[in-house]
Amino acid sequence: MKLPIYLDYHATTPVDERVLEAMQPYFIEIFGNPASSSHVFGWQASAAVEQARRQVADGLDADPEEIVFTSGASESNNLAIRGVARLCRERGRHIVTVATEHKAVLNTCLALEEDGFRVTVLGVDGEGGVELDAVRAALADDTILVSIMHANNEIGTIQDIAPIGALCRDRGVLFHTDATQSIGRRLFNVRHLNVDLVSFSGHKFYGPKGTGALFIRRSVDCAPLITGGGHESGVRSGTLNVPGVVGLAKAVELANQSLKDETARTREWRDDLWRAIREAVPTVLLNGPDPLERPDDRLPNNLNVSVPGAEGEALVAALDQVAVSTSSACTSASGEGSHVLKAIGRDTEGLTHLRFGLGRPTTREEIDYTIGCIRAVAGARA
Ligand SMILES: Cc1ncc(COP(=O)(O)O)c(C=O)c1O
Repeated sequence: MKLPIYLDYHATTPVDERVLEAMQPYFIEIFGNPASSSHVFGWQASAAVEQARRQVADGLDADPEEIVFTSGASESNNLAIRGVARLCRERGRHIVTVATEHKAVLNTCLALEEDGFRVTVLGVDGEGGVELDAVRAALADDTILVSIMHANNEIGTIQDIAPIGALCRDRGVLFHTDATQSIGRRLFNVRHLNVDLVSFSGHKFYGPKGTGALFIRRSVDCAPLITGGGHESGVRSGTLNVPGVVGLAKAVELANQSLKDETARTREWRDDLWRAIREAVPTVLLNGPDPLERPDDRLPNNLNVSVPGAEGEALVAALDQVAVSTSSACTSASGEGSHVLKAIGRDTEGLTHLRFGLGRPTTREEIDYTIGCIRAVAGARA
């Protein structure tokens, strides 16, 4: 076993070797521009992109024409929200979202206030869940879009989005979900989940960084953010990143193949970590749904805890060879506290927050080492 150990798989994941292998021919051998329609170099690249589109669509139970390739979830979220807002602005200017969304959703919605949109930001319960009734109550005659994430990147809460999607459909409102953390960790079927738009990023499930996609249901219109040559059916111009697209598709395929095994393995080990922390540090507070009592309501690979006072600092010190996040990787660069922990009422002073994220390469040995570090905290106290 090599130190340090990486347990921050919500922030990013390494590229799976099989993904890299699939990408390899598209850097030098098959390098054509998929938009070059007059020669074989372009045809080959275009064939690879369309094959990748089918693979991604298959993974979500979508149609290939419903997949738009992007640079990642931040872009997909922006495209979904701004694209729908622009096309629907004559019909209404109200958007509903939730306080625990990733900033790529929250800040995008809030930026639209400057263009005359009204945004309702719903609160969450103590475990990060949103009540269906709260969504229902927030809908107004001029609501055009509801954006609620499938799984939270900090506290792992899985939202039951299918009933929210059904409600939106019933009321003629579009429903977008950020599924960045749930693809590859939970079966994601666009038909069963009643979603109109779905964002995700390749690097969260062993695909390359800078790749992602937006599912746009066939009946939904979305204006482009990036205009130009009209690539991706006019929704996202720019020469496609062919190796990236091929890698993303391979990552989706592998994620679905290994979903069952990986979920079972990471869940078991995550539960072991939780039991060990609970035993070693009795003052620990769990953030998000209880993994042992409500496993289906939480990402299988996620554990997020807050520890009061000196014990928190002792735990972080004991884990100096284990890479965990003390906040969301995406927000910690800004130096602000976590808006997600704030939303669930865990922003009190004197708490140290730790997020563990297990992944495909995680081994039993690594978990045992981490549990040993956690037990050392109890040992030092005794
Ligand atoms: C839930 C969620 N949405 C969106 C993003 C943004 O993804 P990217 O940085 O790949 O654009 C992240 C990244 O952490 C995330 O966890």
